[in-house]
Amino acid sequence: MNDPNGLIHYAGTWHMFYQSNPSDSNWGNMSWGHATSTDLLTWTEHPVALWHTDTEQIYSGSCVFDATNSTGFGTADWPPVVAIYTANYLPGSPRHGTQAQCLAYSLDGGSHWTTYPGNPVLDRGSANFRDPKVFRYGDGWVMVAVEAEDQQVLIYRSPDLINWTYASSFGPAHAAAGAWECPDLFELPVTGTDRSRWVLLVNLNPGGVAGGSGCQYFVGDFDGVTFTPDRVIGTSVDRALGLDDPLLRSYDWFDFGRDCYAVVSFADAPQGRRIVLGWMNNWEYANDVPLTGGRSIMTVPRELDLVQFEDGYRLRQRPVRELPADALVHHTLRSGDRVSIRGAALEYRGGVLSLDRRGVGIDQFHETFSTRQWAEVPGEPTAVQVDVLVDTCSIEVFAAGGTVTISDLVFF
Ligand code: FRU
Repeated sequence: MNDPNGLIHYAGTWHMFYQSNPSDSNWGNMSWGHATSTDLLTWTEHPVALWHTDTEQIYSGSCVFDATNSTGFGTADWPPVVAIYTANYLPGSPRHGTQAQCLAYSLDGGSHWTTYPGNPVLDRGSANFRDPKVFRYGDGWVMVAVEAEDQQVLIYRSPDLINWTYASSFGPAHAAAGAWECPDLFELPVTGTDRSRWVLLVNLNPGGVAGGSGCQYFVGDFDGVTFTPDRVIGTSVDRALGLDDPLLRSYDWFDFGRDCYAVVSFADAPQGRRIVLGWMNNWEYANDVPLTGGRSIMTVPRELDLVQFEDGYRLRQRPVRELPADALVHHTLRSGDRVSIRGAALEYRGGVLSLDRRGVGIDQFHETFSTRQWAEVPGEPTAVQVDVLVDTCSIEVFAAGGTVTISDLVFF
């Protein structure tokens, strides 16, 4: 599997769809797998929700609950859950070589799906137009999707999920050396205030801060048509920046590890919670990682808010409160301190937090896997609090209250 897709809380159940190859352990035959949970931690796998065909792969996308039956796919009393996904057209299709946005709907809470006969609903004739994330805005719908190779997020609006009108585009901006993929746009509270800002997540591959796949974000404003970032500094569209380049480091990164990609949020989480999942992997080596222990896993579900710093806002991430507190190991690291996590080294020195998985366990399956990841801790405090989640083949580090995270696969 790869990207989380169609994340939604519906009728008391969390639904996780995901990019899945139902018949092989490498990427291909892209379809939507399906799993559900009532606590975000224990997941039950279900039959494939959306199957590829000979001429069409089902790429990433999102789900919404169409409570007003704006699509007409259900009835006022029995409205549908609607999936908005990218069709990647293969040889044999008249649209071969292009990607366009399509709909499918379910009237039984996600078990059975019907594809909309009028598909695609949004086609620009483009080869790299994908990954629609749709959300309610006012009495209509907003879609963010990417023109991946142009490093642009495109914003469209619709009254009914079927008819779409172009609104605006954003980018290239900040890290732009690779394809932009899997965007998300949502409003978040600023902790300790009654204010909120909008956050645009932009996953990109390659060109991430730790090499290969990564996720950056922009904090700003959204008026229903245009996303306006609070700050844009130099953009690397014409060159790949080195991993130590101060410009690359000055962008806002969701995670500083190697394995946190395709980060997107759940629709309709209760109590206004904003919960995300990332795919814990990296396209540099995803098709080579060991098959035992977890060829592909998701990050722990993380709840987000914003924290205000002197120079702007920063995302804060915490593992969801459903995770038992004793699942996390706490450390206070003073400068020069180093802790071993089953052979991997977590170290804090001179304001820099690093996670070193070199030489730990199975790490020679790909030449780019054996690396050390690092992040500057804002304010370079003399000591930093870290919470660490270790699982069968992963380490997730939440530092400085969750304003710095480092997520890595480690095949101990
Ligand atoms: C990101 C991605 C998406 C695409 C999907 C295909 O990992 O490349 O852009 O929709 O995976 O599996």
